[in-house]
Amino acid sequence: MKTIKLSDGTSAPWLAFGTGTALYKKAAKDSVLLALQRGFVHIDAAQMYENEDSVGDAIVESGKARGDFYLTTKLNSLSDGESVSTSLEGSLKKLKVDYVDLFLIHVPTMHEGKIAEVWKGMVEAKKKGLTKSIGVSNFNIKYLEQVRAVGLEMPVVNQIEFHPFVYHTLVPLLKYHQENGIITASYGGLSPILPRSAEALKAKYPTERKQLHDTLDKLAAARSKDLKVTQDQVLFKWLQAKNILAVTTSSNATRLDGYLASENLPDLTPEEISAIDSSVGIANFRAFPSFKHMDDQTTP
Ligand SMILES: NC(=O)c1ccc[n+]([C@@H]2O[C@H](COP(=O)([O-])OP(=O)(O)OC[C@H]3O[C@@H](n4cnc5c(N)ncnc54)[C@H](OP(=O)(O)O)[C@@H]3O)[C@@H](O)[C@H]2O)c1
Repeated sequence: MKTIKLSDGTSAPWLAFGTGTALYKKAAKDSVLLALQRGFVHIDAAQMYENEDSVGDAIVESGKARGDFYLTTKLNSLSDGESVSTSLEGSLKKLKVDYVDLFLIHVPTMHEGKIAEVWKGMVEAKKKGLTKSIGVSNFNIKYLEQVRAVGLEMPVVNQIEFHPFVYHTLVPLLKYHQENGIITASYGGLSPILPRSAEALKAKYPTERKQLHDTLDKLAAARSKDLKVTQDQVLFKWLQAKNILAVTTSSNATRLDGYLASENLPDLTPEEISAIDSSVGIANFRAFPSFKHMDDQTTP
């Protein structure tokens, strides 16, 4: 699998299998095993999903050597007296590994007023070898500036909801990422084409939704030969073109194979990329509305 270079000198596989959303607070062993068997080499976990134990079980059962897969997990809120390192050590025990490749602060609003302190703890955990890389998730520019003010290293990744319906709103954040060596990781990347968002999008943005679907269908048809290329594969090509790490999930082996196969489909041309960028204009739709603060990308 192709990798994305991170600013700390490490690299991460561009596509990750996520253990939240559909697997949130559910045993993930069978799904993770399936993903590893189909060819995923990057697993995205989180303390909040309360299933790290079952992710660890899948890792053990897969028989994979530690160097043969990339593992991300995320910090939840900290209880009194708990440090970032002790919290991560708890995750490592559940995941049954000695280190993770990437550790993210999951949600900044869980650490309001303490971002600097928590970031220092993240740097400390990395120094101890508990994680190879450190990053954040759901951070807007305001929270990233709080990290920058600490004066230590910057996060190598910011994992955010990312798809054409939030693209316009996030242009300033993408610029900030580029200027600060931060790789964008996307979750919810398929939201605009999933049944879970269909009703809301049809009600709020029927024209924009149709324009996006028509654009994806056209680009998919242009790439379909013996095998039919699908809308989700075109969306993954769009993320790849932007050097974005994609976090997805599925319980369906055929869909997993399709996600993986998107890597080798013909790349989008600059014109095709802009056609997707502009397909929904300035429409803004979030599939994960609890992270509404991401709509504010003003610089403090
Ligand atoms: N950092 C954060 O705050 C945060 C927030 C949310 C998610 N995440 C991470 O991102 C991962 C990916 O989650 P996501 O939901 O955002 O992924 P996604 O790629 O947007 O969607 C994947 C989901 O879509 C379904 N799907 C795909 N194609 C479909 C189709 N044609 N028709 C119907 N359903 C279809 C899959 O269900 P099937 O099983 O039926 O294929 C799967 O549940 C999570 O597991 C988690 O690790 C992180």
